Amino acid sequence: MDRKKIKIDLLIHDLKVPLAVVESGITLLLQKPEKYGPLTATQKKVLMRTLRNTRVTQTLVNDALELGKSRESIVNLKNISLSSLFEETLIELFDLVDSNTSERIKTCTELSELKEILAENGLVLIINEELWPQKVCLDEAKIKQILRNLVNNALKYRKSFVEIKVDKKDDHLFLSVKDDGEGIPSVFHKKIFKSYFQLEAKDGAPVRGSGLGLAGVMILVEDLGGKLFLESEEGEGAEFSLELPLPKKT
Ligand SMILES: Nc1ncnc2c1ncn2[C@@H]1O[C@H](COP(=O)(O)OP(=O)(O)O)[C@@H](O)[C@H]1O
Ligand SMILES: [Mg+2]
Repeated sequence: MDRKKIKIDLLIHDLKVPLAVVESGITLLLQKPEKYGPLTATQKKVLMRTLRNTRVTQTLVNDALELGKSRESIVNLKNISLSSLFEETLIELFDLVDSNTSERIKTCTELSELKEILAENGLVLIINEELWPQKVCLDEAKIKQILRNLVNNALKYRKSFVEIKVDKKDDHLFLSVKDDGEGIPSVFHKKIFKSYFQLEAKDGAPVRGSGLGLAGVMILVEDLGGKLFLESEEGEGAEFSLELPLPKKT
């Protein structure tokens, strides 16, 4: 690995310790009022928001480290159930935008209940009951990062709904994330996977984001030996679908 990349990865790695200190400090203030003093409702609310954002930052730091590993083609396979994979990913995702929903997802036990909560947020989850508890052998950090990026984009660009579909056939996992937004004209279908590329907003509004997400997703998918397809026409939404080979159980 070249020296410059090692330095950047080391810097990212070193962010982990101070972030852990911040996280545990806030947690202590919230959980041990008998030791650190009582908190008013407003103070609690501020600290909860700070804690959520600290956790989001921790996830991002881990994502950055994961991409570093990907550049070195390091894959960590593990058996994980599809239910945990999706619940945990959705919790991380909603922690960013709507903590109420993420708290509700944390307490839900049935697939039907999860589907209901998601539907209230314009998210349709399509997976059959039989497949839901099944375990698959995957690199958990990488697949979560892929999903989070695709669903985040879909939520950002949708008009009213996002559909997540999960299926498994033979030894392949099929995932797709579809929205009903403005879509992506076919001339840009290759370009959007390049770093820092963003389409201009139609109404001239400033473009949010960084244009790095899909470039990272592509690297991660390639690392997992998978394929990523984009189907989209201007004005007709976008569908990103992913086909991943599932290695035999470890
Ligand atoms: N679901 C989508 N619908 C429409 N455009 C999209 C969608 N996902 C990605 N794009 C376009 O691709 C660009 C790159 O996406 P991405 O790499 O995730 O960067 P970012 O989200 O930081 O802008 C976006 O700026 C947007 O123009
Ligand atoms: Mg993005």
